[in-house]
Formats: sequence, structure tokens, C-alpha cells
Amino acid sequence: AIQRTLILVKPDGVKRQLTGVILARIEAKGYTIAELKQVSATPQMLAEHYAEHEGKPFYQPLVDFMLSGPVVAIIAEGQNVITGFRSLAGTTDPTTAAPGTIRGDLGRDWGLKVQQNLVHGSDSEESAAREIGIWFA
Ligand code: CMP
Repeated sequence: AIQRTLILVKPDGVKRQLTGVILARIEAKGYTIAELKQVSATPQMLAEHYAEHEGKPFYQPLVDFMLSGPVVAIIAEGQNVITGFRSLAGTTDPTTAAPGTIRGDLGRDWGLKVQQNLVHGSDSEESAAREIGIWFA
């Protein structure tokens, strides 16, 4: 099915000037950029976005990291883009993410309390609808 997903280029990706490279990979895969903006997240947005991780040991470092600089929020559209983008992004840990993926090729393990892994992608249609509502209210 044609889907929409919420993609974030996280502060590490923006700081490292990888936004263009990441966008190019999304487009090269055949997905359409429906919406795109650079935004500074607020604590309120992050509390909603990461509600499922509240209480986990990496939660506060994750929120602090996401507040450390602007992010680029993207709505991407395409056939099975939710699963497809997560495949393109690679697994959470950049050290073991497969080469060929965004995290596998470009992600670094900084030895910090949170994985600074360049991108976020919604994990289901329900998450995508919820997250698009947060970042494109
Ligand atoms: P993402 O999957 O986009 O959303 C949750 C984020 O939390 C994840 O990316 C990583 O940035 C971070 N994260 C998830 N699991 C861990 C972990 N075990 N240790 C540190 N950070 C994590």
C-alpha cells in the first residue's frame, strides 16, 4: 500500500551535514518527499514522540540529545515506505547496522549513553499517523 512515514534527521545528522546525503538516499529509493522542514524540537514534542521509552535508562539522554540542535522532519511517501525506510536506515546500533544502510555506512558509535544514529523512522502506520501529528501539527 502507498504509505506515509515520519522521518527525522536527528541533530547528529544535521550537525554532520548529512541531511542532503540522507535525502538523496530516500529519493534514490523512489520515495517522495511530501513535506520537509528544519525544526528545533521542544520538550513537549519529545515527551509525546518518545512516550513509549519513558522510564528506560536511555530516555533522558535521548531527550537531551534531541534538544541539542535542530532536526529535519520529513514526511516521505511511497509503496511500503514505513518498512522500506527502516530497512534503508538499518538497525539501531551503528556499529552492527549493515553496510549499505544509512546507519551502517554513516553512523558512528560515540560511546555515549544514547545511540546517536542519524535518523528516526516510524515503525507502524499507527506510529506514523501519531508522529506526523506531532511534527507537522
Ligand atoms: P529510534 O529507534 O529512532 O528511537 C529510539 C531511540 O533511542 C533510538 O532511535 C536510539 O537513538 C535510542 N536508543 C534505543 N535503544 C537504545 C539503547 N539500548 N541504548 C541507547 N540508545 C538507545
